[in-house]
Amino acid sequence: MPWAIARLRGWFQPPTAPVPRLFLSLPRFARRLPPASFIVLAALSPASRSAPAASASRSFYETPYERKPDFKTLVALGRALFSDRTLSASGRVSCASCHDPAHAYGPPNKLAVQLGGAGLTLPGIRAVPSLTYHQAIPNFQEHFFDNDGNDSEDQGPTGGLDWDGRADSGHEQAAGPLLSSFEMANADRQSVVRKLKTSPNAAAMREAFGPHVLDDPALAWNGLLLAFEVFQQSPADFYPFNSKYDATLRGQVALSAQEKRGLEVFNGATRGNCAACHISVIKRGAFPQFTDFGLIAIGVPRNRAIPVNARADFRDLGACGPLRTDLQAHGDYCGLFRTPSLRNVATRGVFFHNGVYTKLDDAVRFYALRDSDPKRIYGQGRQFDDLPKKYSDNLNQDAPFGAKPGDKPAMTEAEIADVVAFLKTLTDGYVVPGTSAGALEK
Ligand code: HEC
Ligand code: HEC
Repeated sequence: MPWAIARLRGWFQPPTAPVPRLFLSLPRFARRLPPASFIVLAALSPASRSAPAASASRSFYETPYERKPDFKTLVALGRALFSDRTLSASGRVSCASCHDPAHAYGPPNKLAVQLGGAGLTLPGIRAVPSLTYHQAIPNFQEHFFDNDGNDSEDQGPTGGLDWDGRADSGHEQAAGPLLSSFEMANADRQSVVRKLKTSPNAAAMREAFGPHVLDDPALAWNGLLLAFEVFQQSPADFYPFNSKYDATLRGQVALSAQEKRGLEVFNGATRGNCAACHISVIKRGAFPQFTDFGLIAIGVPRNRAIPVNARADFRDLGACGPLRTDLQAHGDYCGLFRTPSLRNVATRGVFFHNGVYTKLDDAVRFYALRDSDPKRIYGQGRQFDDLPKKYSDNLNQDAPFGAKPGDKPAMTEAEIADVVAFLKTLTDGYVVPGTSAGALEK
């Protein structure tokens, strides 16, 4: 089964709370699970690839805590830890500094990359992705077969967390920023645990996992990562499915004329063709994620505002490195980045893995003009100025791409504006007129 299944099945007791309303918008496999389990759709990975557990022979999820917290406790703890700055070397950066809840857990500003490190002076290499709608991302796999009526088609590299799909689970991923020299910049796990002991959340950690959890660095480390992972699977915070577009799928409201035109361009195979990668329809009973999770090369322009790009020899080639190291021999993966969900995209101030655009209409215009007017996109330099020529065959050439310079753009200016209007309907927190619906209980 290519889809993630609940690794934490069995962790939580049967629910006492009613099943949330969004149950029907989950992937079909999730609805077969006991109701409490769908909220913990951590992707399944072979035990050998999980983050270090308290003992090497034990899975991360079998860490022997004194107490076994329930879902609600872990979500509350994870939410508090998510904005705990004391866990960083500078004492000034938390997860929320980069993943701002007010911007769908994406960047709080229009900077292509955020600053981190011990002195808060070190720029990152990539734009901060949104953390919403990650609950259905499958584990990274080089050969993905979607069981959507055609099992035989290999869709190529798919899934995984980070722009290059290199992390497989929320807990594995969370270790990254805690220890990255240009993010929270802790020297090692022990120093994170030392900070945790004196943090404002120490008492809540003990309350959740037992009074001695912080005395055992391995237990404390795993507990911390588990809280981050489970928090990020809280439906109310991360996948509420309560945008205007969701309301239209439920038949509660209609799109405006302009939004409707935008959706038609978005879906039209010979027009925007956006939905080929950013899925927009209900499939197998699940509301659309606006991504097929595929890793694809679309060749966005180099962003000279990223400091590391001052080095002419530096290239972020996505799946083939340099941040990802296991597929460096795969020239055919150079330039590939994971297709992000477009849900909440209008809340972002930077677009694409390198944040090269700061306006949504520019991001959409890129698709319209990449091939028909490359000078407008890349300036006087070479088209695809961030991907060495030898990897050009990796670039996607399907609609809206594939035109020749001078051809008609794939979308007119009016159509670009319509698509932007449509994309704005994907922002969560829409209140259906005449109701108080919109927010889920946290
Ligand atoms: C200094 C800014 C910064 C901080 C602090 C930070 N992140 Fe991130 N986060 C990023 C960037 C940049 C990426 C993309 C990394 C990549 O693709 O290589 C990212 C990626 C992620 C992803 C993967 C998202 C995706 O779309 O695949 C998750 C999950 C995540 N961060 C969670 C966290 C958590 C949890 C914390 C706190 C423990 C945290 N981040 C702290 C900048 C930050
Ligand atoms: C062939 C697959 C494909 C098609 C078709 C496609 N996209 Fe994308 N989209 C991607 C990938 C891959 C990325 C990330 C690329 C990167 O960052 O280098 C992306 C990123 C984006 C982003 C930036 C989101 C963010 O979080 O930064 C926007 C906006 C976007 N696409 C809109 C569209 C629109 C609008 C269309 C149709 C006109 C479209 N896409 C068609 C694959 C596709």
